[in-house]
Amino acid sequence: MNNLNRRLQTTLQQRFGETLDLPPDLPGAGDLLRIAEHRSHRRWATTPLPPELTRLLAACALSAPTKSYLQQVDIIDVRDAGQRAALAALTPTMPWLADAPALLVFCGNGRRFKRLFDRKGLPFTNDHLDSFFNCVVDASMVMMNFINAASAAGLVCCSISMLRNEAERLARILQLPQRVVPVAGLCIGYPSFEASALAPLQPRLPLRATFHVDRMGAADDDTAIDDFDARHVEARAASPGGAPNPRTWSAERTHQYATPQREDWGRFVRSQGFNLK
Ligand SMILES: Cc1cc2nc3c(=O)[nH]c(=O)nc-3n(C[C@H](O)[C@H](O)[C@H](O)COP(=O)(O)O)c2cc1C
Repeated sequence: MNNLNRRLQTTLQQRFGETLDLPPDLPGAGDLLRIAEHRSHRRWATTPLPPELTRLLAACALSAPTKSYLQQVDIIDVRDAGQRAALAALTPTMPWLADAPALLVFCGNGRRFKRLFDRKGLPFTNDHLDSFFNCVVDASMVMMNFINAASAAGLVCCSISMLRNEAERLARILQLPQRVVPVAGLCIGYPSFEASALAPLQPRLPLRATFHVDRMGAADDDTAIDDFDARHVEARAASPGGAPNPRTWSAERTHQYATPQREDWGRFVRSQGFNLK
């Protein structure tokens, strides 16, 4: 096995806790390794990001597939210092947003599609939940494509959904028109190579819980969660600067979501003009 394939196998072993079989003549192992090594980064080098590079990466990202060729995504590159400060004020516990060399907001845009009908004086016959869902799916795909494009260009990213905690304020700051919703922010920069800044590889649930052949079968495999909890604690304990007594994934996640969050999101989406029936 060549070096690249070995690194890919080791990375996926750390991620999923199992040794995957790799064909000896695997094509694209370098690209696969870059995808498998994904990490969200929250510390940045001070190197600025040229705006034309952000625009180039956005063009690559917006080349993603798009549901029914509807192109229901807009990206806002927040460059103005006042605008950046206003967004940073929405995420005071996440200084990595304020510090990031660049910040984008990915939006689902259901407006243009409806306007095609309005301009022709036609009734908008598909005004229901699916219209909202489709533009959010498209925006998610474009954001993931941006993360991959940025990674190919030597950049690192962190998605930020916390911006949506105060959706109305966010919509006002970005002057989002009706039928446009923010899906997530994305901080971008060059990685800081200080040892303490390196983001650890975060394990994922075992493939037996998330990858299925032909049908899903047993819905609640608690042993998969228990195995993952153990691997998560091990990874946390081994990561540099990690907590001395790491909690399980189950404990962390249920603690994070023990209090209600974004309860007004549905109301906000409706107030933006989406019909969720
Ligand atoms: C839609 C979305 C929203 C996210 N929002 C935030 C956020 O508000 N703040 C943050 O620090 N990380 C955020 N993240 C990053 C996740 O916390 C991260 O992906 C997860 O912990 C797994 O770590 P990894 O990406 O390094 O593998 C978000 C990720 C996604 C996909």
